[in-house]
Amino acid sequence: MITGSSSGIGKASSTELARMGAKIVMVCRDRAKGEAARREVIEKSGASEADLELAFADLSSLDSVRSLAADFLKSGRKLHVLVNNAGLILGERLVTKEGLETTFVVNYLSHFLLTNLLLGNLKSAAPSRVINITSDASRSAHIYFDDLQLEHGYGMAKAYGQSKLAQVLFTNELAKQLQGTGVTSNCVHPGAVATNWGRHSAGAMSLIVRLASPFMKSPQKGAETVVYLASSPEVADISGKYFANKKEKAIPPEGNDESSAQRLWKASLVLSGLTGSDS
Ligand SMILES: NC(=O)c1ccc[n+]([C@@H]2O[C@H](COP(=O)([O-])OP(=O)(O)OC[C@H]3O[C@@H](n4cnc5c(N)ncnc54)[C@H](OP(=O)(O)O)[C@@H]3O)[C@@H](O)[C@H]2O)c1
Repeated sequence: MITGSSSGIGKASSTELARMGAKIVMVCRDRAKGEAARREVIEKSGASEADLELAFADLSSLDSVRSLAADFLKSGRKLHVLVNNAGLILGERLVTKEGLETTFVVNYLSHFLLTNLLLGNLKSAAPSRVINITSDASRSAHIYFDDLQLEHGYGMAKAYGQSKLAQVLFTNELAKQLQGTGVTSNCVHPGAVATNWGRHSAGAMSLIVRLASPFMKSPQKGAETVVYLASSPEVADISGKYFANKKEKAIPPEGNDESSAQRLWKASLVLSGLTGSDS
């Protein structure tokens, strides 16, 4: 299952993994865009129609994430790889219908919830893998525990960095909790990749991204580490690590803070409405 499969790194990862013979659930938010992406993935990968399934979810809505997980669980299938990839950067502070800051929800909290709802399935399918897409923006970021929803002093880079650092802390805490289960948890910085990221939603960032895109990696190149982590036997037993260019890289200093990871986990259980019986 790959979130954010309608575009960029998610679509390129779907294509390459389908070419390798994986059955994929492409999670998209827009029906027309999702159907077009699925057709393109089938055409480019040569995979059969039956191996590429679409699922629709708006990851800014925790209800939508719950429906996505429930539909998958109802189908009775096993999940071997979950790629938490969907993401955005927002020039202004937008609030979800559940009253939370949108970057935090789409980039991190929706994936925290989705992963926890699917964890029992991932464990029963072990060996299985969770892959979180982070960014080197996490290196200079902080978790604002006293103002997680950035109600005071919102900034685009601040919100994005916090959400990506949250992905790193989540990766580490999940890896710890999953020891001995056969489920691994790693995160990826894909590099600077020419996708739709930043183009539509971030004001001045849109111009910068457009100007820089000829010098950026292609989505195929940007997907290489995701595909590696999803499929390579080399990383079958590696967990709790930060990858870029198919190699382990140092975890950002704040990403290694165990007490922050546990504090964020507890806050996320409350914010996502997960109870002990769900998780
Ligand atoms: N590109 C880079 O240089 C770069 C660098 C570091 C990290 N990353 C990370 O890589 C990941 C993939 O980004 P990308 O570069 O491939 O950008 P992209 O082309 O913009 O793809 C982002 C994907 O996320 C989906 N998405 C956004 N908001 C959503 C929502 N509310 N519900 C469901 N899906 C939603 C988008 O759907 P729509 O198609 O409907 O918009 C799209 O499929 C992101 O997490 C990003 O932060 C990218």
